[in-house]
Amino acid sequence: MSMSEKGIKLYYKNVTSDVIGSQQGITDTQFKALAEKTSPLIQQLKQQRKAGQIPYRDLPFNDQIATQVKQLADELKDNCENLVVLGIGGSALGNIALQTALNPYMYNLDESQRKGPRLFVFDNVDPAQLTSFLEWLSTRLDRTIINVISKSGRTAETASQFLIIRKLLLDKLGPAGFRKQMVATTDPKQGTLRKIAAEADLRCLEVPDGFGGRFSVLSAIGLFRAAMCGIDIDSLLQGARDMDACVSDEDFCANPAAINAAINYHFYNQGKKNSVMMPYSYALKDLADWFRQLWAESLGKAKDLTGNEVHVGPTPIKALGTTDQHSQVQLYREGPNDKLFTFLEVNNFDKDLKIGPAPDVAPELGFLAGADLSTLLNCEKKATEYALLKNQRPCLTVLFDSVNAYNVGQFIYLYEVTTSFAGALFGINPYDQPAVELGKDATFALMGRDGFEDLASQIKPLTEVDTDFLI
Ligand code: PA5
Repeated sequence: MSMSEKGIKLYYKNVTSDVIGSQQGITDTQFKALAEKTSPLIQQLKQQRKAGQIPYRDLPFNDQIATQVKQLADELKDNCENLVVLGIGGSALGNIALQTALNPYMYNLDESQRKGPRLFVFDNVDPAQLTSFLEWLSTRLDRTIINVISKSGRTAETASQFLIIRKLLLDKLGPAGFRKQMVATTDPKQGTLRKIAAEADLRCLEVPDGFGGRFSVLSAIGLFRAAMCGIDIDSLLQGARDMDACVSDEDFCANPAAINAAINYHFYNQGKKNSVMMPYSYALKDLADWFRQLWAESLGKAKDLTGNEVHVGPTPIKALGTTDQHSQVQLYREGPNDKLFTFLEVNNFDKDLKIGPAPDVAPELGFLAGADLSTLLNCEKKATEYALLKNQRPCLTVLFDSVNAYNVGQFIYLYEVTTSFAGALFGINPYDQPAVELGKDATFALMGRDGFEDLASQIKPLTEVDTDFLI
């Protein structure tokens, strides 16, 4: 497959009955029915957007956020050798995905390969991991910016990381040092983090209201960190803006988000409840992780919009080509035909390698000698896709002409809007996450927070170990 145009494209022939047969593939009649069901949703989403109900859609057009984060990054960058992000879920995964996609693999270790501070994103509360890191960091605190990100300001993981580092900064650098090294990204008005930031007079960035963290990578949550690490946020936002025109197209057949959502919805209803995203590019691997959260938290819902119990939601799975060919493809081909595959394929790699000559004793390696490594990678993608198609497994491909900020911006926006369409097709609210909130409250209860005593007593019988069952 070759592409000359800039941007990304969705290729969907390999989900059709022409390729994988009418038992598994989408027939013309089914495609028409999907178009009829999905087309009115294009208007519906437009109206919701106009009514201010899906504010993430306007993030790429918000010049104020871009200007503010660039100003702050310019102010801080020169004296910053390390940038530490504290956050979880939507406050971390977009940041990690942008870094892996748009900065070199050796960014942290090789100064000549980086245009900003080393980056560390902490999205866990593992004491062994954080201890090791803080041992290294403690002599470098005055050259480190800590960006604590919590939209709600109430998440126990981020709050505890913050309290550990706050103490370290206060002990080592005093209140002025704490103030100098911190940036807080949180709700403009409310929440615990906002309160602490106001009292300590910390630098603050705002997270606009009205959407979950998983839709926030194009806000200050992702943009400040990206700007600090030399990522071209103007191109990122331009890519998203240009994708906005495509995903607003009222013609179903020209609208990649509507088609993508419709295809996913169709296969879910046909029993393919799992959705595998498999990039053939190391740089794109964490976008599959970002997608996993976006898809799971947005679409996994107990109730539909009218309150009926539905328990829907495709299970997103991430895999990496070629690595997982040697781990998952046996199952993908011969196990249950319950998956839709989405490959991410890159046409032009900005760095490439020629494979060396074969030694005389191994002429059988001659077929590799002299080939570009990117050619091998893309042949492996085609080979895996072919093998899956031979077993009637539906395959989509998102084609990147290359991996750059513009195209990554396109991808992010395409999948965010695909999620909105999928939510509408499933008849659920893709913007809340009530089940995550219960886990957060249960953590408060188990940690003895005031006001959560009743919940703590409900949890106890379920979490205490019954030794009769311990072998
Ligand atoms: O998508 C979401 O809303 C969640 O994944 C949140 O990003 C995550 O729970 C962290 O929440 P907060 O940023 O409020 O600390």
